[in-house]
Amino acid sequence: MTATTGTRASQNRAGCTAVVGLQWGDEGKGKVVDLLSGHAAAVVRYNGGANAGHSIVIGGKRFALHLMPSGILRPGRLAVIGNGVVVDPAVLLSEIASLESAGVDVSGLRISSRAHVVMPYHMDEDAAREAALRTGNEQAIGTTLRGIGPAYADKALRTSGVRMGDLVRPDLLRRKLETIAPAKARLVGVLKGEAVEYDIDALHAQAVRAGEALGPYITDTTYLLHELCDGGRGLLFEGANGTLLDLDHGGFPFVTSSTCSVLGIGPGTGLTERCLDRVVGIVKAYSTRVGGGPMPTQLDDAVGDRIRERGREFGTTTGRPRRCGWLDLVAVRYTAAVNRCTELAITLLDVLAGLESLRVCTAYRVDGVETDRFLPDADDLARAEPVYTTLEGFDEEITTARSRADLPQAALAYLEFIERFVGVPVKIVSVGPDREQTILD
Ligand code: GDP
Ligand code: IMO
Ligand code: MG
Repeated sequence: MTATTGTRASQNRAGCTAVVGLQWGDEGKGKVVDLLSGHAAAVVRYNGGANAGHSIVIGGKRFALHLMPSGILRPGRLAVIGNGVVVDPAVLLSEIASLESAGVDVSGLRISSRAHVVMPYHMDEDAAREAALRTGNEQAIGTTLRGIGPAYADKALRTSGVRMGDLVRPDLLRRKLETIAPAKARLVGVLKGEAVEYDIDALHAQAVRAGEALGPYITDTTYLLHELCDGGRGLLFEGANGTLLDLDHGGFPFVTSSTCSVLGIGPGTGLTERCLDRVVGIVKAYSTRVGGGPMPTQLDDAVGDRIRERGREFGTTTGRPRRCGWLDLVAVRYTAAVNRCTELAITLLDVLAGLESLRVCTAYRVDGVETDRFLPDADDLARAEPVYTTLEGFDEEITTARSRADLPQAALAYLEFIERFVGVPVKIVSVGPDREQTILD
């Protein structure tokens, strides 16, 4: 955004990295973002909202972040919430309070004035839409009920969207709410089949209070990111959710309402994804999914239960038990391609210890015909039966492994199979939740 366009490429010395989930979310992105943020000037969220739950464990202390970029735990880093994020101010304020009470300095937070606000009526609309689907005998999406879909829908509708910058302009906000609130009340009322009213004074007062508290952090993050990039400062983009939940490239309609893949970085930050020189795809060593929608490798048996218990597969945001199953390499090869990943990080490998054999899905069979392509449409994917390749299991606990040489042969063979099948090298292996429990290539 300065007059230096001609030299921009050479100035981008520190490089930009993206960390993105290649499955249905909860791949361990938070841990890897924290791990890689040491060299970045800023960690940047570009999509999603408080539907995300990113857990980070440092020296045994656990932090669960929903809106706050995971880089906040590194002193001196900027933590940027880009314009593509939808922000629930109440969630962000409570996150700030709990981080501060844990002694974390949050002064590096920057929030785009153009990020849209998740208002209380968005949560109501989310819940009412889900309930209406259930009573209509349709399968509900199983959303996190954080108002994400309705907030993005209002952004796309334009006249019903409220942006973070509006929170510090009380008069403008008032005018907007006078139009939006009655219309929302009518909509939610129809969905619920009962009269609904929104108190404009209360909505306005709550939003203005949030604006007063968050005002010091609200800024034009697009200029900020371009300045950092032009100054050769490294940026780390933190994807939320996962590429199989991407609105366009995931298993529609059982997806979230944002572009979770790196393709969301441009619209979600104002900085084109062409600045990226490293795209790290995060792959959990098995599959999990929470909410509705098909998952071809789901295990409703003792192995699935064992994975859930060992992996503590219960949602960070909602506490819901996650569905567990074997690693789906058809899906991962597809999402690695969508993101044009330069490397993979395999997480939660330790969870698989003690299983006699390990299965990975290497093709789908649909109506008797085999395909090696992912099916980014829920109806098609629901008909896909997994075709498995079976690999040897390993008995040894690996949580203390710190180099590949510490891993049993069967674990190494599992990693090599993934690398070969996906065609992208594995550079990071995570063997426990702690920052230290990591093998770097
Ligand atoms: P995210 O949404 O992608 O950031 O992932 P979540 O934080 O929702 O879920 C991953 C969970 O696995 C968290 O509880 C992490 O602390 C934990 N975790 C991350 N890496 C590992 C690992 O290698 N092994 C084990 N056992 N747990 C891990
Ligand atoms: P992180 O960043 C796992 C899922 C929900 C639901 C669908 C739509 O922690 O990996 P939404 O509330 O976004 O409208 O829900 O998407 N979902 C996630 N699942 N991890 C997440 O985030 C998710 N974010 C959304 O469970 O099925
Ligand atoms: Mg999560």
